[in-house]
Amino acid sequence: MKVLQEEQRVTVMEGPWTPVDVIKQIVDEGNQEDPFYVMDLGEVVNRYHRWKELMPRVEPFYAVKCNDDKLLVSTLAALGAGFDCASKAEIELITSLGVKPDRIIFANPAKMASHIRYSAAAGVDLMTFDSEIELLKIKQHMPHAQLVIRIRCDAAVAQCPLGIKFGCDPVAEAPRLLKLAAVLGLEVVGVSFHVGSGAADTEVYARGVQWARALFTAATRAGHHMRLLDVGGGFAGGSHSCLAQVAQVINNALETHFPERSVRIIAEPGRYFAAAAYTLATMVHAKREVTSKDNANEDETHTMYFVNDGVYGSFNCVLYDHQQVVAEPLIPSRAAPRPCSVWGPSCDALDCVLPSAFLPPQPAGAWLVWRDMGAYTLPVASPFNGFPVPRVVPVVRAALWAVLKDLWPLTEAHFVQSVPAAGPQSPPPSPSSPSPPSPTPSHSSEPSPSSSPPPIAALDDHHSRLVFVECALK
Ligand SMILES: Cc1ncc(COP(=O)(O)O)c(C=O)c1O
Repeated sequence: MKVLQEEQRVTVMEGPWTPVDVIKQIVDEGNQEDPFYVMDLGEVVNRYHRWKELMPRVEPFYAVKCNDDKLLVSTLAALGAGFDCASKAEIELITSLGVKPDRIIFANPAKMASHIRYSAAAGVDLMTFDSEIELLKIKQHMPHAQLVIRIRCDAAVAQCPLGIKFGCDPVAEAPRLLKLAAVLGLEVVGVSFHVGSGAADTEVYARGVQWARALFTAATRAGHHMRLLDVGGGFAGGSHSCLAQVAQVINNALETHFPERSVRIIAEPGRYFAAAAYTLATMVHAKREVTSKDNANEDETHTMYFVNDGVYGSFNCVLYDHQQVVAEPLIPSRAAPRPCSVWGPSCDALDCVLPSAFLPPQPAGAWLVWRDMGAYTLPVASPFNGFPVPRVVPVVRAALWAVLKDLWPLTEAHFVQSVPAAGPQSPPPSPSSPSPPSPTPSHSSEPSPSSSPPPIAALDDHHSRLVFVECALK
């Protein structure tokens, strides 16, 4: 198999470890200067299983916009998730993995004509709308589409409210649009809503399901055959977030309003799958002590830390996604925390990650760890001012890899594996280091018995703590 530059490698980990341990090992290599992410595939798998366990009726269609990292979407594809795509490029990415078009919803209520035509050609029939103009456009470019009417249903509090942009009024507008669709000969099959991203209110889902029921009745009267309910996204994603409460609200609402199993129920979670799987590591490359007067006119010193990723990179989430990020020193210290601020690397004064924080004093060269950084970070990050977007170092525990590698599209044919010569203490590959040596003399894109890696269990115990794997996804 030819290993291309842009392909991602997965480091298979044996024994106990955490993403912070992996960061320490990479940093201990000594020549690491750029920020990087450690991405734990296991977190995605655990969350998928938790979802299935708590909401067995609700099929997750991952919202690709949240983080389009190929390894993340491939893992979700392997697990059997569907996908919410908002554009031609997102449909192209997901279908290129081999995902069947009936596992995709084109969930952008305001689509470009060429994207609708692309969707038609790709066989992605399911798409949302919330206006008359969209219906006319779909009539012209894809009259056989299966339409889902998006209604507005806002959580009382959300990190990013969406109702100001999308969703027709379920009472004042939706019944008229359903009738217009019927007059145009278009097929409406379902109702969707999105309560807002990072919603703080769980009861809102019950309200959305109830409105959807009323619109199923109205749509049936207008002549449509209704069979899909999409409860959207908005599910929390941080390491300490809990799905159980919202799952109970949704399950109860479904039992009350949609007891019939003939209706397909889907959701569009984004941050739920992406956030906790990614831990960011940044380095303090400069610092400055500043003194100012406090409220009592006393001198107050404050340390400004400059790190190698900022609001034009991963921390765009502070501006656009209203995330509250938390810095943790990689090396714990007993020293008392002191007032400080954290700044990005660019020459722009807007590039402030944390205007006011408390950290034990950090020397230049110290590393800071930021957990739960997988949602709405990487896809928006830019290399402004010449500072690179952090690379992702994917890791997975060996027992899980043994299963994942057999699941399409992460088949064994897409992995090359080698054992580090230095033995158990060897760190995982640094994001900037070249590919590790492969034990296979030649690589082919076709699976072949000779290029199959040995089973993990067969590896010499002394050399098996870290196994390097190169993953070439289709
Ligand atoms: C249509 C749609 N679906 C799903 C999502 C994902 O939302 P979340 O990440 O809150 O689950 C978004 C986010 O903006 C969206 O616009």
